[in-house]
Amino acid sequence: MKILISLFLALYNGRLSQESNNAGSFQLVKGKNVPFHNFSLVPNNSPLKLSKIICFSQCLRNEFCSFVVYKNSICSLHTEYALSRLVLDTNVKVVFQKKFIFDHCISSPCMNSATCVNKLDEYVCLCDDGFFGTNCEKNISSYSCPADNYRLNETDSCKPCMTGFTTLNNYPFNCYKIDGNRTFESAKLFCQSLNSFLWRPKTLTERNIYNPHWRWAESKITYVGQPYVWPDGSKVYGMANGEPENMGENKYLHENVLMLPHVSVFCDFNSQHEFLTICQQLS
Ligand SMILES: *[C@@H]1O[C@H](CO)[C@@H](O)[C@H](O)[C@H]1NC(C)=O
Ligand SMILES: *[C@@H]1O[C@H](CO)[C@@H](O)[C@H](O)[C@H]1NC(C)=O
Ligand SMILES: *[C@@H]1O[C@H](CO)[C@@H](O)[C@H](O)[C@H]1NC(C)=O
Ligand SMILES: *[C@@H]1O[C@H](CO)[C@@H](O)[C@H](O)[C@H]1NC(C)=O
Repeated sequence: MKILISLFLALYNGRLSQESNNAGSFQLVKGKNVPFHNFSLVPNNSPLKLSKIICFSQCLRNEFCSFVVYKNSICSLHTEYALSRLVLDTNVKVVFQKKFIFDHCISSPCMNSATCVNKLDEYVCLCDDGFFGTNCEKNISSYSCPADNYRLNETDSCKPCMTGFTTLNNYPFNCYKIDGNRTFESAKLFCQSLNSFLWRPKTLTERNIYNPHWRWAESKITYVGQPYVWPDGSKVYGMANGEPENMGENKYLHENVLMLPHVSVFCDFNSQHEFLTICQQLS
């Protein structure tokens, strides 16, 4: 067993960049096949003819990749949302699940009740409400500013929000304007017309702003199973359990944008509905 693992590591280290001595493995999950060629492909991935080892190492390196479908030497990388949509076919053993060998969360680096997400070269802490910083070691009270002033970090000074914008719920890192129910696109245009951005809440504390109102967040997809990202390309964390689900439909896109219903986790929704517009001053 040990020899096998060493061999495995040696093989992977040959393919991966030298800075990494951590690696992952791939475990065959139940024989399954993919119903739609595109479904839940990681962003910018199109199926290619590749050796299995290169295929797997591409998945290891890709934050969005959770599953590989490797069939007839064609490699496609799929997101965490793919598995529940992969059609059961026990004769076709082509789906592999990514597992990291090294667990960066094992030392419990995240503080103040945060959740640790293990990645290939690092971990990410998802902070509990009110906490910030790489390890969620900082809290809001250390960032206080006069009313309707914001500051980006400890060394930054407090600056007033632009006219019509305010800070909310003691969240000191951005300024917001709340302005009625709109469709997703008109909410986005409205915020642009004020030289601001439709809401992009990246932390739990920020997601709690204006809870329990039903409110839009600026993330949109164009095909079924595409993972939701922020306009800067970073992954959206904080989905509700079982979301996004596109109303259980695999073929046609029914729900293409993100919103928060009366909770602090994201759901997918149809952009034609009208929900609360929250504009934020900084991207
Ligand atoms: C596959 O995805 C591309 C965009 O990435 C899209 O243009 C194409 O229509 C999709 N094909 C199917 C069958 O959904
Ligand atoms: C918040 O941070 C301050 C110092 O920055 C500290 O004194 C206080 O104990 C912290 N509160 C919590 C709940 O961690
Ligand atoms: C804090 O924010 C200011 C921008 O207002 C930036 O110039 C500075 O580099 C930041 N400092 C740190 C330590 O991130
Ligand atoms: C906005 O939409 C929510 C949920 O759909 C609804 O409960 C609320 O009454 C609406 N507010 C206005 C001002 O229309």
